[in-house]
Amino acid sequence: MRLSSMVQFLASTLLAFNADHILPGVAEVESREQKVWARAGGSAVLPCYLSAGRRQSGLAAKTSVLWLRHGGSAPQEPQVVLEVGSSGLRKVALPMRARLSVQDSALRGGNFSLRISPVRSGDAALYEARVAYDAEVLSCRVQLEVVTVTLSQPSPVVENEPLLLSCSSSHRASLVETCWFHNRHLLPTSRTFCFLHGAHFMLRPAMSDAGYWRCQLRYSDNEIVSATYYLRILGFSGPSNSIVYAAAGSAADLQCTLSDLPSASGTNTVTARWSHLAQGHLQEWEISQNLSSRSFPLHLAAVGPGDAGQYRCAVNLGRRTISRDVTLAVVTVTPSIQGPVSEGSRLLLICSLTHRQGHERFQWQHLESAPTGRQLTVATSHNLEGHRPHMGPTLEIPQVSQKDTGTWECSVYGPEGRLGAVEYGLQITGAQVSSPPTIFSGQVTFGLTLTLFFLLMVCVLALALQKRARTPAFPALEGMVAVAVPRKKVMEENQEEKIQQTEC
Ligand SMILES: *[C@@H]1O[C@H](CO)[C@@H](O)[C@H](O)[C@H]1NC(C)=O
Ligand SMILES: *[C@@H]1O[C@H](CO)[C@@H](O)[C@H](O)[C@H]1NC(C)=O
Repeated sequence: MRLSSMVQFLASTLLAFNADHILPGVAEVESREQKVWARAGGSAVLPCYLSAGRRQSGLAAKTSVLWLRHGGSAPQEPQVVLEVGSSGLRKVALPMRARLSVQDSALRGGNFSLRISPVRSGDAALYEARVAYDAEVLSCRVQLEVVTVTLSQPSPVVENEPLLLSCSSSHRASLVETCWFHNRHLLPTSRTFCFLHGAHFMLRPAMSDAGYWRCQLRYSDNEIVSATYYLRILGFSGPSNSIVYAAAGSAADLQCTLSDLPSASGTNTVTARWSHLAQGHLQEWEISQNLSSRSFPLHLAAVGPGDAGQYRCAVNLGRRTISRDVTLAVVTVTPSIQGPVSEGSRLLLICSLTHRQGHERFQWQHLESAPTGRQLTVATSHNLEGHRPHMGPTLEIPQVSQKDTGTWECSVYGPEGRLGAVEYGLQITGAQVSSPPTIFSGQVTFGLTLTLFFLLMVCVLALALQKRARTPAFPALEGMVAVAVPRKKVMEENQEEKIQQTEC
């Protein structure tokens, strides 16, 4: 049944498409009435042509065209919608003025078709053209039928806000069935919804509902009418409740990006308000963007476990606000020993995540902080078995040794790949168990520093004594001399001092 109706639909559209080419010959048959279908919001051409033979002979100078509409507010009296006098003067009925047109060049060529753009549902009626030329009258009668798709929300519709779609037409017969076809990328129809009679179609729009929707109305007289509507949805790009993983102490960027440019919603200013409930008090951030940006990221400079949780990004689009939640999960390392770790001790590093979904896996690796950037070393601790990275949230180093110093990284993996990582810098101080070489080297360093310090003190003392021996008895005179002494002499004195210092 669906196939046959599709064939019928195609046949009717083809007929309508060909009408322009078929009609010129037919236009002379006065009583012939044509039907034209148009979608509300689209355009319609009501055809009226002079026969091909007459067109070639050229049109008389005195040709006038009158387009009338039957069955308006006064059903007996046809209304004049457009009049082109023989002098070329044009009169257009006020309510339709901006939407009606005839082509002057076409008129001369015998094409008296009337174009209506955009069509409104109220335009459905019987139209008649009366063309007077060479004392003859040509009449074209066109029934305009309008199919209307109505949305309960202005376009673009907002994601998740209930949407009512309805489809109706001016056709008089009783409606049997309404079908909706969703055709996302003009691929073969992927989804079909059919209802008896003219039921409204309720949709909770998701980003995946964007695209072409075609409604098809089937009437009791087998008339099939269809109209296509492009549904635009304003929401957010990316998954709906995303989790951002950040290492404790590092920066985090929470994304909030609209699926469409905000200017599409007809507003000039776009602001996003981020909010987060942290330990009982509400934190808020406001981000304003110009119309060429649809992204409102929140940058957190250094996150701690206390910053973890749900963040809401609410974008204000004039009268409408749409929001999206983003969860911040913080990855932390808790060592069993706080502060520096002494060699030989047992160390546990526990990697944890503030928000677990249950499917996360943890992996520990020892990184080498080489000057050319970090490189992953295959060799983990000699205490650990094998050379593979350690799996699981807890890393145990039974006896910490010099080889274990450096950066340890805990990575968190989900089904989609690596989610985040946190690093821990292991620093080893002296030994817990006696380890002579370290102690010895430490003592040597200390002794050397002490000796150097002592030598320096002696040197300073000697210098002071030498200076004292050269100074005159009167301190006041010394001051005067110092003032009188030219710059060069002072420099010489300085140099002398320097030499003495180096000698020392
Ligand atoms: C006749 O005129 C209408 C507009 O008045 C135009 O849309 C249509 O294409 C014309 N037909 C042909 C065959 O040129
Ligand atoms: C809007 O902001 C972006 C950067 O956020 C800037 O590159 C662009 O020039 C701005 N446009 C206008 C019209 O101010």
